[in-house]
Amino acid sequence: MSEESERSPNPGAPGTSRRDFLTQIGGGACAVAGVGSLVVTLDYLKPKVLFEPPTVFRAGSAVDYPEGTVRFNREQRAYVIGGGGGVFALSAVCTHLGCITRYLSDEKAIACPCHGSRFDLEGNVVHGPAPRPLPWLEVTADAAGNLVVDSSIIIPHGKVTRA
Ligand code: FES
Repeated sequence: MSEESERSPNPGAPGTSRRDFLTQIGGGACAVAGVGSLVVTLDYLKPKVLFEPPTVFRAGSAVDYPEGTVRFNREQRAYVIGGGGGVFALSAVCTHLGCITRYLSDEKAIACPCHGSRFDLEGNVVHGPAPRPLPWLEVTADAAGNLVVDSSIIIPHGKVTRA
């Protein structure tokens, strides 16, 4: 084998030896692996935070909820309802598998579109497959008389806020 054929594996690239060529390939592979490792490490270090809306929201004044009023807060997945001489709030999340329910104003009922559960306006199951009533959420009134709902606090059924 001549010295020329050992030095130049690529006849089109004069002056590059086989050793130089393999060194460059190895260096390139190490660089790609290093960059990949860096990207994965930075992605690992970046916080994986799920941004959710705050659980506390204002629902207006109690006078905005005459008996029978049902308002759906889509972002909070909650109903604020005037009834029982005051105001109360229900979670809109179905207790079967977590679909978001809908208020049927014609039927004065809450229905789940996923598997057909029905609830009355106090959240009680009219028919399943939902195993439990819709949770009642804490409603308080601030000093100015505005209603504040905290969807993270479940309260016993029947606790109506009067403001
Ligand atoms: S998720 Fe509501 S009935 Fe199944």
